[in-house]
Amino acid sequence: MDYTISSKEFEQFRALIYQECGISLSDNKKTLLVSRLSKRLRTLELDSFQAYYDLVSGQTESDEFTLLLDLVSTNKTDFFREPKHFDFLREEIIPTLQSSRRVRIWSSASSSGEEPYTIAMTLYDSVPDPERWDFKILASDISTRVLARASSGVYEDERVRSLPKDIVERHFLKGKGASAGMIKVKPHLKAMVRYQRINLMDDTFPIKTPLDLIFCRNVMIYFDRPTQTKLINKFYRYLKPGGYLFIGHSESLQRLDQQFKAIAPTIYQKEA
Ligand SMILES: C[S@@+](CC[C@H](N)C(=O)[O-])C[C@H]1O[C@@H](n2cnc3c(N)ncnc32)[C@H](O)[C@@H]1O
Repeated sequence: MDYTISSKEFEQFRALIYQECGISLSDNKKTLLVSRLSKRLRTLELDSFQAYYDLVSGQTESDEFTLLLDLVSTNKTDFFREPKHFDFLREEIIPTLQSSRRVRIWSSASSSGEEPYTIAMTLYDSVPDPERWDFKILASDISTRVLARASSGVYEDERVRSLPKDIVERHFLKGKGASAGMIKVKPHLKAMVRYQRINLMDDTFPIKTPLDLIFCRNVMIYFDRPTQTKLINKFYRYLKPGGYLFIGHSESLQRLDQQFKAIAPTIYQKEA
């Protein structure tokens, strides 16, 4: 069965998705919505987008709603994506934390875990005695599907093919037998990362300790300006004075009403 979406149905989905996760679908996303959701409608044997809307709209905590969000959002990520951030972390931030040896980081749109594990590898490799440091990374995402993948720590080995060999050997185990072709992050990295579902649209976040650093990369691009402004000001409150915010390379805080100081491209600091 071929599905079409009426303007009214598209508006309903657009409002629901915006309200629940801040993603604003522009008019030209109509075709994308149809192509991504049709398969789901077919699987559920539904005869229209209206029927699917009626199914998900009352149940935004359900697995089906998570599935809808997975289909409309992009989870694309990589190990050491936008590597300058990790150079900055190693060279500029870690040395300033030497006296406390305590680092608290939030990867706030972690997707399938490549970003928080890259942070963990960078922290671990930046100091001569990582076992004497207290490193904690909170990794969160709205999608429970990607979080399940992240907490398993298992990936196809081609995901690390472009990384230096010594990094791969230090931090990953190679699968054998039935797991050949797969790699798994080693326990010392996993121990540094905790996973939790957090919706960035929530008014408050379940975080008690002030943070040294927040990563919020490649998700704000899907939010409109008022949503971005609100989020950035929430992040400000959860950082320590002097704490940092890293955003994606195609994102900017320039036109937002906020208090961060720009330190380097896509790197911002809360006033000390
Ligand atoms: C493109 S990925 C970015 C991954 C990683 N930060 C990076 O730069 O490689 C965007 C992630 O944002 C998540 N996301 C979208 N809306 C969200 C929301 N309202 N709250 C939390 N996560 C959200 C998606 O599920 C997706 O995994």
